[in-house]
Amino acid sequence: MSSTFAAPQVLEESFGASIEEKIAATIDDLITQLPDPEQLTSEQRRGIIARYAAVLEGNFIYWMTATFLAVKSHEAHPILLENLYDECRDSHPAMMRRFALAAHAFPTDTDALAVDKNLTAMRLFLGKLEGVPSLLSMAFFEGWIQRFMAPLAKLAALQGSTEMVYTDVHGVCDVRHSQELFRGVFLEMERYPVDEGTDIFEGVNLLSTLIQNIVQGETKRAG
Ligand SMILES: [Fe+2]
Repeated sequence: MSSTFAAPQVLEESFGASIEEKIAATIDDLITQLPDPEQLTSEQRRGIIARYAAVLEGNFIYWMTATFLAVKSHEAHPILLENLYDECRDSHPAMMRRFALAAHAFPTDTDALAVDKNLTAMRLFLGKLEGVPSLLSMAFFEGWIQRFMAPLAKLAALQGSTEMVYTDVHGVCDVRHSQELFRGVFLEMERYPVDEGTDIFEGVNLLSTLIQNIVQGETKRAG
Protein backbone atom coordinates (compact mmCIF):
# COMPACT_ATOMS: atom_id res chain seq x y z
CA MET A 1 0.00 0.00 0.00
CA SER A 2 1.53 3.31 -1.00
CA SER A 3 -1.42 5.63 -1.40
CA THR A 4 -0.91 9.28 -0.78
CA PHE A 5 -4.06 11.21 -0.12
CA ALA A 6 -4.44 14.91 -0.66
CA ALA A 7 -6.02 16.66 2.28
CA PRO A 8 -9.80 16.77 1.94
CA GLN A 9 -11.39 19.94 3.19
CA VAL A 10 -14.49 18.00 4.10
CA LEU A 11 -14.13 14.35 4.98
CA GLU A 12 -16.55 12.59 2.67
CA GLU A 13 -18.16 9.32 3.64
CA SER A 14 -16.72 7.47 0.64
CA PHE A 15 -13.23 8.68 1.52
CA GLY A 16 -13.56 7.32 5.04
CA ALA A 17 -14.93 4.04 3.72
CA SER A 18 -12.03 3.68 1.29
CA ILE A 19 -9.54 4.10 4.13
CA GLU A 20 -11.26 1.42 6.21
CA GLU A 21 -11.38 -0.88 3.18
CA LYS A 22 -7.65 -0.48 2.59
CA ILE A 23 -6.89 -1.24 6.23
CA ALA A 24 -9.19 -4.28 6.21
CA ALA A 25 -7.53 -5.58 3.02
CA THR A 26 -4.07 -5.13 4.55
CA ILE A 27 -5.12 -7.06 7.66
CA ASP A 28 -6.67 -9.81 5.52
CA ASP A 29 -3.42 -10.08 3.55
CA LEU A 30 -1.31 -10.40 6.70
CA ILE A 31 -3.62 -13.03 8.18
CA THR A 32 -3.66 -15.03 4.92
CA GLN A 33 0.14 -15.03 4.90
CA LEU A 34 0.36 -16.62 8.36
CA PRO A 35 1.88 -20.10 8.34
CA ASP A 36 -0.12 -23.03 9.69
CA PRO A 37 1.12 -23.43 13.29
CA GLU A 38 0.89 -27.22 12.94
CA GLN A 39 3.36 -27.15 10.05
CA LEU A 40 6.01 -25.19 11.94
CA THR A 41 8.83 -26.59 14.05
CA SER A 42 8.71 -25.96 17.78
CA GLU A 43 11.56 -23.44 17.42
CA GLN A 44 9.70 -21.57 14.66
CA ARG A 45 6.60 -21.37 16.86
CA ARG A 46 8.66 -20.19 19.83
CA GLY A 47 10.31 -17.55 17.64
CA ILE A 48 7.02 -16.00 16.53
CA ILE A 49 5.71 -15.74 20.11
CA ALA A 50 9.06 -14.38 21.34
CA ARG A 51 9.38 -11.72 18.63
CA TYR A 52 5.77 -10.69 19.16
CA ALA A 53 6.42 -10.33 22.90
CA ALA A 54 9.68 -8.45 22.25
CA VAL A 55 7.73 -5.88 20.25
CA LEU A 56 4.48 -5.68 22.22
CA GLU A 57 5.48 -5.82 25.87
CA GLY A 58 7.62 -2.72 25.93
CA ASN A 59 6.20 -0.74 23.05
CA PHE A 60 2.44 -0.78 22.76
CA ILE A 61 1.81 1.71 25.57
CA TYR A 62 4.65 3.84 24.19
CA TRP A 63 3.06 3.83 20.71
CA MET A 64 -0.35 4.74 22.08
CA THR A 65 1.19 7.50 24.22
CA ALA A 66 3.06 8.95 21.22
CA THR A 67 -0.20 8.93 19.28
CA PHE A 68 -1.94 10.71 22.14
CA LEU A 69 0.76 13.40 22.05
CA ALA A 70 0.44 13.70 18.25
CA VAL A 71 -3.33 14.08 18.13
CA LYS A 72 -4.68 17.63 18.33
CA SER A 73 -8.47 17.19 18.41
CA HIS A 74 -9.98 17.11 21.87
CA GLU A 75 -12.63 14.68 20.64
CA ALA A 76 -10.03 12.01 19.80
CA HIS A 77 -8.08 12.27 23.07
CA PRO A 78 -10.58 10.32 25.24
CA ILE A 79 -10.43 7.39 22.80
CA LEU A 80 -6.68 7.10 23.26
CA LEU A 81 -6.90 7.66 27.01
CA GLU A 82 -9.36 4.81 27.33
CA ASN A 83 -6.90 2.52 25.57
CA LEU A 84 -4.08 3.64 27.85
CA TYR A 85 -6.29 3.28 30.91
CA ASP A 86 -7.07 -0.38 30.07
CA GLU A 87 -3.41 -1.11 29.31
CA CYS A 88 -2.18 0.29 32.63
CA ARG A 89 -5.05 -0.71 34.93
CA ASP A 90 -4.94 -4.36 33.81
CA SER A 91 -1.17 -4.30 33.17
CA HIS A 92 -1.21 -5.70 29.67
CA PRO A 93 2.61 -5.80 29.60
CA ALA A 94 2.53 -8.16 32.63
CA MET A 95 -0.17 -10.19 30.86
CA MET A 96 2.02 -10.36 27.75
CA ARG A 97 5.04 -11.50 29.76
CA ARG A 98 3.04 -14.24 31.53
CA PHE A 99 1.81 -15.47 28.15
CA ALA A 100 5.33 -15.63 26.67
CA LEU A 101 6.85 -17.27 29.76
CA ALA A 102 4.13 -19.92 29.92
CA ALA A 103 4.84 -20.81 26.28
CA HIS A 104 8.59 -21.00 27.03
CA ALA A 105 9.03 -18.16 24.58
CA PHE A 106 10.38 -15.29 26.63
CA PRO A 107 12.37 -13.24 24.09
CA THR A 108 16.14 -13.61 23.96
CA ASP A 109 18.53 -10.92 22.73
CA THR A 110 18.49 -12.66 19.35
CA ASP A 111 14.68 -12.44 19.19
CA ALA A 112 14.73 -8.74 20.13
CA LEU A 113 17.46 -7.92 17.61
CA ALA A 114 15.65 -9.81 14.83
CA VAL A 115 12.96 -7.10 14.87
CA ASP A 116 15.19 -4.19 15.87
CA LYS A 117 15.40 -2.29 12.57
CA ASN A 118 11.69 -2.42 11.81
CA LEU A 119 10.78 -1.58 15.40
CA THR A 120 13.14 1.39 15.33
CA ALA A 121 11.56 2.59 12.08
CA MET A 122 8.15 2.54 13.78
CA ARG A 123 9.46 4.43 16.81
CA LEU A 124 11.01 7.12 14.61
CA PHE A 125 7.81 7.44 12.58
CA LEU A 126 5.76 8.00 15.74
CA GLY A 127 8.36 10.53 16.87
CA LYS A 128 7.24 12.78 14.02
CA LEU A 129 4.01 13.23 16.03
CA GLU A 130 1.67 13.32 13.02
CA GLY A 131 -1.88 12.91 14.32
CA VAL A 132 -3.74 11.27 11.45
CA PRO A 133 -1.03 8.82 10.27
CA SER A 134 -0.28 7.84 13.89
CA LEU A 135 -3.94 7.28 14.75
CA LEU A 136 -4.49 5.29 11.57
CA SER A 137 -1.54 3.04 12.39
CA MET A 138 -2.98 2.34 15.86
CA ALA A 139 -6.46 1.62 14.43
CA PHE A 140 -4.84 -0.81 12.00
CA PHE A 141 -2.79 -2.45 14.74
CA GLU A 142 -5.77 -2.99 17.04
CA GLY A 143 -7.66 -4.53 14.12
CA TRP A 144 -4.80 -6.85 13.29
CA ILE A 145 -4.22 -7.91 16.91
CA GLN A 146 -7.82 -9.01 17.23
CA ARG A 147 -7.45 -11.27 14.17
CA PHE A 148 -4.03 -12.54 15.30
CA MET A 149 -5.14 -13.72 18.75
CA ALA A 150 -6.51 -17.11 17.65
CA PRO A 151 -3.35 -18.06 15.70
CA LEU A 152 -1.18 -16.78 18.57
CA ALA A 153 -3.13 -18.86 21.09
CA LYS A 154 -2.73 -21.89 18.82
CA LEU A 155 1.04 -21.35 18.66
CA ALA A 156 1.22 -21.16 22.45
CA ALA A 157 -0.99 -24.22 22.94
CA LEU A 158 1.23 -26.23 20.61
CA GLN A 159 4.18 -25.17 22.79
CA GLY A 160 2.38 -26.71 25.76
CA SER A 161 0.88 -23.57 27.32
CA THR A 162 -2.55 -23.23 28.87
CA GLU A 163 -2.07 -19.55 29.87
CA MET A 164 -4.42 -17.74 27.49
CA VAL A 165 -5.49 -14.61 29.40
CA TYR A 166 -3.59 -12.33 27.00
CA THR A 167 -5.15 -13.79 23.85
CA ASP A 168 -8.63 -14.03 25.43
CA VAL A 169 -8.60 -10.37 26.54
CA HIS A 170 -7.27 -8.99 23.26
CA GLY A 171 -9.52 -11.03 21.03
CA VAL A 172 -12.51 -9.24 22.54
CA CYS A 173 -11.62 -5.73 23.72
CA ASP A 174 -9.62 -4.76 20.65
CA VAL A 175 -12.63 -5.00 18.34
CA ARG A 176 -14.16 -2.01 20.09
CA HIS A 177 -10.80 -0.26 20.45
CA SER A 178 -10.23 -0.51 16.71
CA GLN A 179 -13.68 0.88 15.86
CA GLU A 180 -13.20 3.74 18.30
CA LEU A 181 -9.76 4.51 16.90
CA PHE A 182 -11.21 4.74 13.38
CA ARG A 183 -13.74 7.21 14.73
CA GLY A 184 -10.77 9.13 16.15
CA VAL A 185 -9.00 9.10 12.78
CA PHE A 186 -12.00 10.69 11.08
CA LEU A 187 -12.51 13.26 13.84
CA GLU A 188 -8.87 14.28 13.59
CA MET A 189 -8.99 14.45 9.79
CA GLU A 190 -12.00 16.73 9.87
CA ARG A 191 -10.58 19.08 12.48
CA TYR A 192 -6.96 19.01 11.37
CA PRO A 193 -6.65 17.91 7.71
CA VAL A 194 -3.25 16.47 6.80
CA ASP A 195 -0.87 18.49 4.65
CA GLU A 196 -1.12 17.80 0.95
CA GLY A 197 1.20 14.97 -0.05
CA THR A 198 1.21 13.34 3.39
CA ASP A 199 1.13 9.57 3.17
CA ILE A 200 -1.44 8.78 5.83
CA PHE A 201 -0.58 5.07 5.49
CA GLU A 202 3.11 5.48 6.36
CA GLY A 203 2.72 4.00 9.84
CA VAL A 204 0.39 1.27 8.59
CA ASN A 205 3.04 0.21 6.06
CA LEU A 206 5.81 0.26 8.68
CA LEU A 207 3.70 -1.84 11.03
CA SER A 208 2.85 -4.30 8.26
CA THR A 209 6.56 -4.80 7.64
CA LEU A 210 7.19 -5.20 11.37
CA ILE A 211 4.38 -7.78 11.64
CA GLN A 212 5.84 -9.75 8.72
CA ASN A 213 9.21 -9.56 10.48
CA ILE A 214 7.64 -10.96 13.67
CA VAL A 215 6.11 -13.85 11.75
CA GLN A 216 9.02 -14.61 9.44
CA GLY A 217 11.99 -13.81 11.67
CA GLU A 218 15.24 -12.57 10.20
CA THR A 219 14.14 -12.84 6.58
CA LYS A 220 11.98 -9.68 6.68
CA ARG A 221 14.18 -6.84 7.81
CA ALA A 222 14.27 -3.21 6.86
CA GLY A 223 17.10 -2.33 4.50
FE1 LIG B 1 -3.23 -4.58 25.39
